[in-house]
Amino acid sequence: MYNFEALMKIIHSASYPIEFGALSSSSFPAILEKDYASAKKVILVDENTHDYCLEYLLTHFEALKDAEIMLLPSGEENKVMEVCFQVWEALSEYKISRRDLIINLGGGLVSDMGGFIAALFKRGVNFIHIPTSLLAMVDASVGGKTGIDLGKYKNQIGVFADPLAIFVDPGFLTTLQDEEKLNGMAEMLKHGLIADSGHWNKLQNVSPLEMPLELIYDSVQIKNTIVSSDPRESGERKKLNFGHTFGHAFEGFLLGSENQVAHGHAVALGMLCEAYLSVEKGLLPTSDFLEIQACIRKNFPLLAFQEEDYPAIYELMLQDKKNHKSSVQCVLLKNIGEAVIDQPLSFTDVELGLNFLLRLVREK
Ligand SMILES: NC(=O)c1ccc[n+]([C@@H]2O[C@H](COP(=O)([O-])OP(=O)(O)OC[C@H]3O[C@@H](n4cnc5c(N)ncnc54)[C@H](O)[C@@H]3O)[C@@H](O)[C@H]2O)c1
Repeated sequence: MYNFEALMKIIHSASYPIEFGALSSSSFPAILEKDYASAKKVILVDENTHDYCLEYLLTHFEALKDAEIMLLPSGEENKVMEVCFQVWEALSEYKISRRDLIINLGGGLVSDMGGFIAALFKRGVNFIHIPTSLLAMVDASVGGKTGIDLGKYKNQIGVFADPLAIFVDPGFLTTLQDEEKLNGMAEMLKHGLIADSGHWNKLQNVSPLEMPLELIYDSVQIKNTIVSSDPRESGERKKLNFGHTFGHAFEGFLLGSENQVAHGHAVALGMLCEAYLSVEKGLLPTSDFLEIQACIRKNFPLLAFQEEDYPAIYELMLQDKKNHKSSVQCVLLKNIGEAVIDQPLSFTDVELGLNFLLRLVREK
């Protein structure tokens, strides 16, 4: 499906390279065989990347023949401290030292949690990300944010920790489910909305199920440019949270329920609510909003919340890490391609956004 030649492009970030192309043509083998020749190697996978991605690594890279494989249970409900403890105990049993290497092979769950585990173990073991979901390739693996959830509060426990390198090999996408490709596309759409209207326009004309490599590459570049300019999120980087004030609250609210919603899907609906509020606050032209609405409704199923759920959803937003002075701070849009950070949201604003979603569902 992917017309994937051995193209290899290197994107330089502040402190690590992002190599885009076939893993076998990258510097990954050299790192294993030279820099870490005598080191122990640990590969962290979840259940699906164990079944679909691990074999490729083990059969193509001789230096990994004795690697220790550690399995994380898949699913956001497992991005928790209890699982980290189990992995730290296993690392300890396997006598991993700071000179060894951890390879995170998976989606955003594995890169967030694997990075966190590596960063804290013995005050930091070097790690590499090999993202295998579209969402992790274009977003989660890039930028040094690692962490886990605390109950329904997303990514509350975490550290900034940079990997040694990131290897984005789109070949892994061949086994990714269609729904997960859509989840990845949500973050790509976000990149267009906050920073690059040309990227947004191109995304309107492609199938998310057969995402062109150049658009994946462009999204990695957009994310990397933003995080490199503001690694610790004091300004510019906050833009990347567009869709996440509502999105994280939706994800947390439904976490563990039978209606659990994936991160990308939650962010897509979050972007819809936040774009709607951008119009309500006189920032975004209605024509831009209608374009955003059409795209999101075409690609993502709607979800709505009942009025009695609103206070709990608002409560989740109040725990967002980007807030200050106890008020919810949100990213809104000025145009397609331009975002404004630090926009306060009251409970009434949040109600307005949630009512909008509810109306759409009832009108369906
Ligand atoms: N650190 C950051 O900057 C950042 C940014 C965005 C999202 N995130 C986090 O990323 C997570 C979401 O990432 P995600 O959507 O990749 O979720 P995920 O890691 O749970 O992966 C989604 C599903 O796809 C499966 N999968 C992954 N690669 C596969 C492959 N090649 N073939 C078959 N199945 C495969 C996984 O096993 C899982 O079932 C959330 O926890 C979110 O908070 C972090």
